[in-house]
Amino acid sequence: MGKWQQIIDYIHFIGRSNNSHGIHSPFVFNLYNEVLNVKKEYYFFGPIESLRASYLNNHEEIDMVDLGAGSALGAASKRKISKVAATSLQSSKNAALLFRLVDYFQPKNIIELGTSLGITTCYLAKAAKKSNIVSIEGNPALASIATQGFQKLAIQNITFKSGSFDTHFLPSLNEFKQVDFILFDGNHRLEPTMQYFEQSLPFINENTVFIFDDIYWSNEMKQAWQQIKGNSQVSVTIDLFDMGLVFFRKGQKKQDFLLRV
Ligand SMILES: C[S@@+](CC[C@H](N)C(=O)[O-])C[C@H]1O[C@@H](n2cnc3c(N)ncnc32)[C@H](O)[C@@H]1O
Repeated sequence: MGKWQQIIDYIHFIGRSNNSHGIHSPFVFNLYNEVLNVKKEYYFFGPIESLRASYLNNHEEIDMVDLGAGSALGAASKRKISKVAATSLQSSKNAALLFRLVDYFQPKNIIELGTSLGITTCYLAKAAKKSNIVSIEGNPALASIATQGFQKLAIQNITFKSGSFDTHFLPSLNEFKQVDFILFDGNHRLEPTMQYFEQSLPFINENTVFIFDDIYWSNEMKQAWQQIKGNSQVSVTIDLFDMGLVFFRKGQKKQDFLLRV
């Protein structure tokens, strides 16, 4: 989808979204004020951001394997690490937001679909030191860099799986038996996104949180987001434009929020 369409979508989003004034759900009001709209730095963000900076300055080329919806930059068989770091990762602002979400909910079993260079994985791991984090990446070159990064930062609560989501996602869910937090951050197409979503549903509990990245990235992702919102098991969704949050809380009125952070 073109840059212009994303700008138009963003303008519509700004017109329709709220800040804390429009939130009538106590759960979402608290989440907004205590987690989403908070600017808080932690000392361990520093080393993770230094690692990101080292990737941004590394112009070595690596082999790319397109296992998903590819990149907005188009298909390329080789790409500089610096380019991957600049274009494929959660921004430091969004990675900090994901950190705060994990820190707040303290999910026990976490899955990240799409590790890339592992920067966001490090944020998740730091937020929940006693949790089990499975992160899956299908590009062997990225997998190798990510695992070296986890070692450099001495992070031990990540179980890294090198290979496709098709190979590792369902077995990881089965191993966990219950999943508390999933970051869907790869293969941004309608069919696989819905497939991963539906595969996950038998493993949720009422406190499970799903995060879908890039819900305005393409028409297919916009459709996927609409279908996810409409699912009868979903109670609350929060559209932050960059990502969509999904909750399954029982006894909660079904509501969809658009919030500016
Ligand atoms: C947007 S990046 C992930 C960014 C990462 N979560 C972060 O914020 O640092 C998506 C990653 O998913 C991987 N990917 C996409 N489709 C995949 C698939 N079907 N199986 C395994 N990995 C896949 C890509 O290779 C890419 O590195």
